[in-house]
Amino acid sequence: MKIRIENTESEFDLAAAWCITAQMLTQPECVIGLSTGRTTGNMHRLAARIHSEFPFDVSRVTIAGLDEVAGVPCGFPGSCREMLRTEIAEELGIGESNFLMLPVSSDDYARDCGTFTEEIKRRGGLSLLMLGVGENGHLGFNQPGSPFDSVCRLSSMHPELESRLREESGLPDDRPMGGVTLGIADIMKAERIVLVAKGGNKASIVKRLLEVPVTEDVPASVLQLHPDCEVLLDAAAASLL
Ligand code: GLP
Repeated sequence: MKIRIENTESEFDLAAAWCITAQMLTQPECVIGLSTGRTTGNMHRLAARIHSEFPFDVSRVTIAGLDEVAGVPCGFPGSCREMLRTEIAEELGIGESNFLMLPVSSDDYARDCGTFTEEIKRRGGLSLLMLGVGENGHLGFNQPGSPFDSVCRLSSMHPELESRLREESGLPDDRPMGGVTLGIADIMKAERIVLVAKGGNKASIVKRLLEVPVTEDVPASVLQLHPDCEVLLDAAAASLL
């Protein structure tokens, strides 16, 4: 894995934004997989800003969400769809037909997961996947212990994240909540992966995922086996290396 370290958080945000921009410029018909969270918001907004200042054709670009919060009301601002829509898709002018997301609610998640991954495949597969990482090494909603051959599915959510989202969405305790996510096997099929991590709270998992023998206990360690994966960090996230 290639490791790239930027000195400051804003240099990190900009470098990550340029990964997205460069992909759209060099491969106008690409499928870019994006994750959500505190790490990725600024980079998405910056990629949108670069495009608004230096416009180019993105009509054949597809954005696909890595995962989605399952069980929350449609339009919930904390859903991955709403975050990616407001952070980047709308600004770039990506239409609904080129904005692929997993559902927040469904009567058949297995069917919808199949449709989602088939559509990505029909478009040529993920050209670039920008991946965040959880402090316990999770990728998307693939928590520690997720099998490396897992595919897109409804999975569980970290209890802390679940209680925060329940509070924000007003979802009662008796209504199930989960995370629907590309599986580890789907993630590994991406042609190119950039794992992004910033901030001191990610320093220890960054060290672990790079140094531990590949194990399902640390889902992100699987990236050691990917043929084209870059790890993009700010100095704080790289501080234990
Ligand atoms: C969440 C999301 C992931 C994301 C990760 C890191 O659980 N499901 O897709 O990459 O956590 O989030 P953050 O950047 O906020 O630490």
